[in-house]
Amino acid sequence: MKQGLGFLESYSFAVITGASSGIGLQYARRLIELKPELVIFNLSRSKADDLWEGLPVEHRQTDLSSPAELDEALQWLQSKCAGAAPGKMLLINNSGFGSYGRFPARSIERQLDMVEVNIAAPVNITAHLLPELRRRGGAIVNVCSLAAFQPTPYMATYGASKSFMLNWSLALGQELREDGVVVQALCPGPTQSQFFKNAGFASPPGNRIGKGSSAAEVVEASISGLRAHRSLVIPGFANHLTRFLGSVLPLEIRARAAEFVLRKLRLETYLKHP
Ligand SMILES: NC(=O)c1ccc[n+]([C@@H]2O[C@H](COP(=O)([O-])OP(=O)(O)OC[C@H]3O[C@@H](n4cnc5c(N)ncnc54)[C@H](OP(=O)(O)O)[C@@H]3O)[C@@H](O)[C@H]2O)c1
Repeated sequence: MKQGLGFLESYSFAVITGASSGIGLQYARRLIELKPELVIFNLSRSKADDLWEGLPVEHRQTDLSSPAELDEALQWLQSKCAGAAPGKMLLINNSGFGSYGRFPARSIERQLDMVEVNIAAPVNITAHLLPELRRRGGAIVNVCSLAAFQPTPYMATYGASKSFMLNWSLALGQELREDGVVVQALCPGPTQSQFFKNAGFASPPGNRIGKGSSAAEVVEASISGLRAHRSLVIPGFANHLTRFLGSVLPLEIRARAAEFVLRKLRLETYLKHP
């Protein structure tokens, strides 16, 4: 489907982290639907050959919580980017996970891995690919979260990692304005993917907060945002409203309200993951 190619016309490749599942996988599928010639370089632990069937994905198995593996992957990425066909590049820092429960939910190792994957890896990848991004022009999408706008008790490190990514993205976007590189902070609300299962929820908290968005809706909002050079994208009206209502309250009240909501989810699901 060529309809809506728009901004992608001048792009030759995309670098994605976590194209093996959920939002990252949907991003890969949609980009190729819009521009079949685009090449995708992916970093994630698992391969998704069956899901990538027909997609031009070059995969490098990488655990982003391992600085040594990331260093090797960065060299691979830099040579792939340098050798790619002329054109702009799109970097999508998407890999991420949460962990639900009282800090340090599950283990301190898991919390520190979260900091590596959700914060250190995107900062490192962006820094290493920035010269190529400046040379070619293009865009960065950092997948943050609605959780970025307030403290998130029982997912304390996760919410804080997303706040970091939100503020970092908006600041970086200002720095890169003159270089022709657009930076988008993508802040989805609850989205259908493996996220909740991996975070330790027995079931997605769908009954309480609605079905959530599909990964396709999130990606569509992000792509529209790229077309319009938007630096902050919050997919879905309900999520906009949540963010707006939250923003009128002092931060410490937002923390209390979030504790109330997230504790309730905990009662519903925590027993299976004490
Ligand atoms: N779903 C939601 O409700 C929601 C809401 C707001 C924001 N987000 C954010 O959206 C992003 C994508 O999540 P999703 O919803 O699509 O969940 P998902 O289906 O669980 O996908 C997560 C992706 O991150 C990758 N990943 C996780 N740990 C990794 C590691 N150590 N090294 C390399 N890659 C790793 C996974 O790949 P491998 O397992 O193959 O390594 C997978 O492709 C995350 O940053 C998440 O925080 C999700």
